[in-house]
Amino acid sequence: MEKTTKSQQNNIKKPAAKKPVKAKTDAAKDLRDLFVDELKDIYGAEKALVKALPKMAQNATSKKLVAAITAHLKVTERQVTSVEKVFQAIGKKAQAKKCVAMEGLIKEGEEIMKSAKEGDVRDAAIISASQKVEHYEIASYGTLCSFAKSLGETEAAKILQTILDQEYDADKKLTEVSQSINHQAKDNDSSTTKPAKNVSSTKKAASKMSSNGTRKTAGSATKKPGSAGPKKASK
Ligand SMILES: [Fe+2]
Repeated sequence: MEKTTKSQQNNIKKPAAKKPVKAKTDAAKDLRDLFVDELKDIYGAEKALVKALPKMAQNATSKKLVAAITAHLKVTERQVTSVEKVFQAIGKKAQAKKCVAMEGLIKEGEEIMKSAKEGDVRDAAIISASQKVEHYEIASYGTLCSFAKSLGETEAAKILQTILDQEYDADKKLTEVSQSINHQAKDNDSSTTKPAKNVSSTKKAASKMSSNGTRKTAGSATKKPGSAGPKKASK
Protein backbone atom coordinates (compact mmCIF):
# COMPACT_ATOMS: atom_id res chain seq x y z
CA MET A 1 0.00 0.00 0.00
CA GLU A 2 1.25 3.46 -0.90
CA LYS A 3 2.33 5.54 2.07
CA THR A 4 1.14 9.12 2.47
CA THR A 5 3.83 11.79 2.76
CA LYS A 6 4.00 14.24 5.65
CA SER A 7 2.75 17.10 3.49
CA GLN A 8 -0.15 14.97 2.29
CA GLN A 9 -0.98 14.10 5.91
CA ASN A 10 -0.99 17.80 6.78
CA ASN A 11 -3.49 18.44 3.97
CA ILE A 12 -5.94 15.82 5.25
CA LYS A 13 -8.70 17.73 6.92
CA LYS A 14 -10.11 16.30 10.11
CA PRO A 15 -13.91 16.26 10.30
CA ALA A 16 -15.20 19.24 12.20
CA ALA A 17 -16.24 18.41 15.74
CA LYS A 18 -20.02 18.27 15.82
CA LYS A 19 -22.38 18.55 18.70
CA PRO A 20 -23.89 15.20 19.70
CA VAL A 21 -27.53 14.62 18.76
CA LYS A 22 -29.66 15.95 21.58
CA ALA A 23 -31.84 13.27 23.16
CA LYS A 24 -35.57 13.91 23.40
CA THR A 25 -37.11 14.31 26.82
CA ASP A 26 -38.72 10.87 26.57
CA ALA A 27 -35.57 9.20 25.18
CA ALA A 28 -34.78 5.60 26.21
CA LYS A 29 -32.66 5.45 29.36
CA ASP A 30 -31.84 1.74 29.29
CA LEU A 31 -32.12 -1.36 27.11
CA ARG A 32 -35.69 -2.06 28.27
CA ASP A 33 -36.82 1.40 27.20
CA LEU A 34 -35.05 0.91 23.86
CA PHE A 35 -36.66 -2.51 23.42
CA VAL A 36 -40.15 -1.07 23.99
CA ASP A 37 -39.43 1.83 21.67
CA GLU A 38 -38.27 -0.47 18.85
CA LEU A 39 -41.24 -2.74 19.45
CA LYS A 40 -43.55 0.25 18.92
CA ASP A 41 -41.64 1.00 15.73
CA ILE A 42 -42.05 -2.50 14.22
CA TYR A 43 -45.71 -2.56 15.34
CA GLY A 44 -46.25 0.63 13.32
CA ALA A 45 -44.25 -0.85 10.43
CA GLU A 46 -46.38 -4.01 10.27
CA LYS A 47 -49.59 -1.98 10.33
CA ALA A 48 -48.32 0.20 7.48
CA LEU A 49 -47.39 -2.91 5.52
CA VAL A 50 -50.89 -4.38 5.87
CA LYS A 51 -52.13 -1.29 4.01
CA ALA A 52 -49.35 -1.30 1.38
CA LEU A 53 -49.18 -4.98 0.35
CA PRO A 54 -52.54 -5.11 -1.50
CA LYS A 55 -51.34 -2.37 -3.87
CA MET A 56 -48.23 -4.39 -4.66
CA ALA A 57 -50.32 -7.51 -5.35
CA GLN A 58 -52.65 -5.50 -7.60
CA ASN A 59 -49.73 -4.31 -9.69
CA ALA A 60 -48.07 -7.71 -10.06
CA THR A 61 -48.68 -9.88 -13.12
CA SER A 62 -47.07 -13.22 -12.27
CA LYS A 63 -49.55 -15.53 -10.53
CA LYS A 64 -46.73 -16.89 -8.37
CA LEU A 65 -45.76 -13.38 -7.25
CA VAL A 66 -49.36 -12.34 -6.58
CA ALA A 67 -49.81 -15.51 -4.53
CA ALA A 68 -46.59 -14.88 -2.59
CA ILE A 69 -47.59 -11.29 -1.74
CA THR A 70 -51.18 -12.25 -0.88
CA ALA A 71 -49.96 -15.04 1.38
CA HIS A 72 -47.53 -12.69 3.07
CA LEU A 73 -50.30 -10.16 3.61
CA LYS A 74 -52.16 -12.76 5.68
CA VAL A 75 -48.96 -13.57 7.60
CA THR A 76 -48.40 -9.85 8.21
CA GLU A 77 -51.93 -9.46 9.59
CA ARG A 78 -51.18 -12.28 12.04
CA GLN A 79 -47.84 -10.69 12.90
CA VAL A 80 -49.65 -7.54 14.05
CA THR A 81 -51.45 -9.75 16.58
CA SER A 82 -48.19 -11.52 17.50
CA VAL A 83 -46.48 -8.21 18.25
CA GLU A 84 -49.45 -7.31 20.47
CA LYS A 85 -48.74 -10.55 22.35
CA VAL A 86 -45.14 -9.44 22.83
CA PHE A 87 -46.40 -6.21 24.41
CA GLN A 88 -48.64 -8.31 26.62
CA ALA A 89 -45.76 -10.63 27.58
CA ILE A 90 -43.68 -7.69 28.83
CA GLY A 91 -46.63 -6.05 30.59
CA LYS A 92 -46.96 -3.08 28.28
CA LYS A 93 -49.88 -1.66 26.36
CA ALA A 94 -49.58 -2.16 22.58
CA GLN A 95 -48.71 1.15 21.01
CA ALA A 96 -47.65 1.90 17.45
CA LYS A 97 -45.04 4.45 16.51
CA LYS A 98 -44.63 5.90 13.03
CA CYS A 99 -41.87 3.84 11.40
CA VAL A 100 -39.99 6.35 9.25
CA ALA A 101 -37.95 3.59 7.56
CA MET A 102 -40.98 1.53 6.54
CA GLU A 103 -42.73 4.65 5.27
CA GLY A 104 -39.69 5.33 3.10
CA LEU A 105 -39.49 1.77 1.85
CA ILE A 106 -43.19 1.77 0.93
CA LYS A 107 -42.81 5.11 -0.83
CA GLU A 108 -39.78 3.81 -2.69
CA GLY A 109 -41.79 0.72 -3.66
CA GLU A 110 -44.38 2.97 -5.29
CA GLU A 111 -41.66 4.87 -7.15
CA ILE A 112 -40.07 1.60 -8.29
CA MET A 113 -43.43 0.40 -9.66
CA LYS A 114 -43.93 3.65 -11.56
CA SER A 115 -40.45 3.32 -13.02
CA ALA A 116 -41.02 -0.17 -14.43
CA LYS A 117 -43.30 -1.22 -17.29
CA GLU A 118 -46.23 -3.47 -16.40
CA GLY A 119 -45.46 -7.16 -16.73
CA ASP A 120 -42.25 -9.06 -16.03
CA VAL A 121 -40.10 -5.96 -15.48
CA ARG A 122 -42.53 -4.49 -12.96
CA ASP A 123 -42.75 -7.87 -11.27
CA ALA A 124 -38.96 -7.90 -10.90
CA ALA A 125 -39.21 -4.35 -9.49
CA ILE A 126 -41.91 -5.39 -7.01
CA ILE A 127 -39.72 -8.25 -5.80
CA SER A 128 -36.84 -5.82 -5.38
CA ALA A 129 -38.97 -3.47 -3.27
CA SER A 130 -40.49 -6.35 -1.28
CA GLN A 131 -37.10 -7.82 -0.42
CA LYS A 132 -35.91 -4.45 0.83
CA VAL A 133 -38.90 -4.46 3.17
CA GLU A 134 -38.18 -8.04 4.25
CA HIS A 135 -34.56 -7.28 5.03
CA TYR A 136 -35.56 -4.30 7.14
CA GLU A 137 -37.95 -6.53 9.06
CA ILE A 138 -35.31 -9.27 9.44
CA ALA A 139 -32.87 -6.72 10.89
CA SER A 140 -35.55 -5.31 13.22
CA TYR A 141 -36.80 -8.64 14.55
CA GLY A 142 -33.23 -9.94 14.86
CA THR A 143 -32.37 -7.00 17.10
CA LEU A 144 -35.62 -7.29 19.06
CA CYS A 145 -34.94 -11.00 19.69
CA SER A 146 -31.47 -10.18 20.91
CA PHE A 147 -32.79 -7.43 23.22
CA ALA A 148 -35.54 -9.69 24.60
CA LYS A 149 -32.99 -12.41 25.41
CA SER A 150 -30.66 -9.92 27.09
CA LEU A 151 -33.57 -8.68 29.21
CA GLY A 152 -34.59 -12.22 30.21
CA GLU A 153 -37.94 -11.86 28.39
CA THR A 154 -38.18 -15.50 27.30
CA GLU A 155 -41.80 -15.47 26.12
CA ALA A 156 -41.29 -12.28 24.13
CA ALA A 157 -38.10 -13.68 22.58
CA LYS A 158 -39.95 -16.85 21.54
CA ILE A 159 -42.72 -14.92 19.75
CA LEU A 160 -40.22 -12.59 18.10
CA GLN A 161 -38.14 -15.53 16.87
CA THR A 162 -41.25 -17.04 15.26
CA ILE A 163 -41.92 -13.78 13.42
CA LEU A 164 -38.25 -13.55 12.41
CA ASP A 165 -38.45 -17.05 10.90
CA GLN A 166 -41.58 -16.02 8.97
CA GLU A 167 -39.71 -13.04 7.53
CA TYR A 168 -36.84 -15.29 6.44
CA ASP A 169 -39.34 -17.62 4.78
CA ALA A 170 -41.02 -14.72 2.95
CA ASP A 171 -37.63 -13.50 1.70
CA LYS A 172 -36.71 -16.99 0.56
CA LYS A 173 -40.02 -17.34 -1.28
CA LEU A 174 -39.43 -14.02 -3.09
CA THR A 175 -35.96 -15.18 -4.14
CA GLU A 176 -37.47 -18.37 -5.56
CA VAL A 177 -40.15 -16.46 -7.47
CA SER A 178 -37.56 -14.02 -8.82
CA GLN A 179 -35.61 -16.77 -10.58
CA SER A 180 -38.12 -17.19 -13.43
CA ILE A 181 -39.33 -13.58 -13.42
CA ASN A 182 -35.83 -12.10 -13.77
CA HIS A 183 -35.14 -14.50 -16.61
CA GLN A 184 -38.33 -13.43 -18.44
CA ALA A 185 -37.76 -9.73 -17.71
CA LYS A 186 -34.30 -9.97 -19.26
CA ASP A 187 -35.53 -10.04 -22.84
CA ASN A 188 -39.33 -10.15 -22.88
CA ASP A 189 -41.42 -7.32 -24.22
CA SER A 190 -44.09 -7.47 -21.56
CA SER A 191 -45.85 -4.22 -22.47
CA THR A 192 -48.97 -6.10 -23.55
CA THR A 193 -49.44 -8.04 -20.32
CA LYS A 194 -51.92 -6.76 -17.75
CA PRO A 195 -51.46 -6.67 -13.98
CA ALA A 196 -53.86 -8.41 -11.59
CA LYS A 197 -57.09 -6.43 -11.20
CA ASN A 198 -57.58 -6.91 -7.49
CA VAL A 199 -56.35 -8.89 -4.54
CA SER A 200 -59.54 -10.90 -4.07
CA SER A 201 -59.20 -12.35 -7.56
CA THR A 202 -55.83 -13.67 -6.55
CA LYS A 203 -56.93 -15.33 -3.35
CA LYS A 204 -57.54 -18.56 -5.25
CA ALA A 205 -53.94 -18.55 -6.39
CA ALA A 206 -52.75 -17.79 -2.87
CA SER A 207 -54.65 -20.72 -1.42
CA LYS A 208 -52.93 -23.03 -3.87
CA MET A 209 -49.50 -21.98 -2.67
CA SER A 210 -47.38 -24.60 -1.02
CA SER A 211 -46.18 -22.04 1.54
CA ASN A 212 -48.16 -19.39 3.41
CA GLY A 213 -45.06 -17.88 4.95
CA THR A 214 -45.56 -19.61 8.28
CA ARG A 215 -44.23 -22.93 7.06
CA LYS A 216 -40.80 -23.72 8.42
CA THR A 217 -38.19 -24.17 5.73
CA ALA A 218 -34.51 -24.92 5.82
CA GLY A 219 -32.98 -21.45 5.98
CA SER A 220 -33.02 -18.32 3.87
CA ALA A 221 -31.51 -18.05 0.45
CA THR A 222 -30.06 -14.68 1.35
CA LYS A 223 -27.35 -13.76 3.80
CA LYS A 224 -28.69 -12.83 7.20
CA PRO A 225 -28.01 -9.14 7.82
CA GLY A 226 -27.22 -7.32 11.03
CA SER A 227 -24.88 -8.18 13.84
CA ALA A 228 -27.35 -7.76 16.65
CA GLY A 229 -29.80 -10.39 15.51
CA PRO A 230 -29.69 -14.02 16.48
CA LYS A 231 -29.42 -16.70 13.86
CA LYS A 232 -32.54 -18.40 12.59
CA ALA A 233 -33.46 -21.22 14.88
CA SER A 234 -32.70 -24.58 13.35
CA LYS A 235 -35.86 -26.55 12.94
FE1 LIG B 1 -43.67 -8.63 8.88
